[in-house]
Amino acid sequence: MPQGGPPPDDSIQPPPELLEAWLCHPEIVKLGDPVLRQVARPITLATQEIQDLIARMTVIMRAAHGLGLAAPQVGVSLRLFIYDAGDKKGLRVLINPRIVSARGEQTDPPEGCLSIPGLQGVVTRANQIRVKGYDARLKPVTINATELEARVIQHEIDHLDGILFFDRADPETLVWAIGAEDDDDEANPALKE
Ligand code: NI
Repeated sequence: MPQGGPPPDDSIQPPPELLEAWLCHPEIVKLGDPVLRQVARPITLATQEIQDLIARMTVIMRAAHGLGLAAPQVGVSLRLFIYDAGDKKGLRVLINPRIVSARGEQTDPPEGCLSIPGLQGVVTRANQIRVKGYDARLKPVTINATELEARVIQHEIDHLDGILFFDRADPETLVWAIGAEDDDDEANPALKE
């Protein structure tokens, strides 16, 4: 991708070296599927289907070494995501989330997306957020998050609104990271969300 050009659109194609990575984890919807651009619907009942969806998404996210995964990324246009920012909180589920306050700024580390394997770029996000939503049983929860956890939550909420990280990234920083197919964090330090 020529750096410094206009922001990419959904028709961007990965370089040949990354085609294999794009075919990996086929259960994750990739860029170009319209579901990634839809505004997802709220969830109103904690049905068994929702529990099954959460279980399925957990397996998929772990297999892909992701920090977060939103339901639209598995083709389900509902306002639900899971994440695990690698802290002691472990895996968390958030349903119908909304950011009620946001403060500060952060720019590191670069972001990537499981739906756009290999693409990375710098996205400015709020550094501290308060999020209200519901857990897997539809009990109300409030989460105060900072730094990496706050970044992941903002990335995933964007997915529920049909927004992808490159829409917000500094276009001059967007680059294809060859080696991303190795699931090797040193080859591809960008977050997988
Ligand atoms: Ni993503």
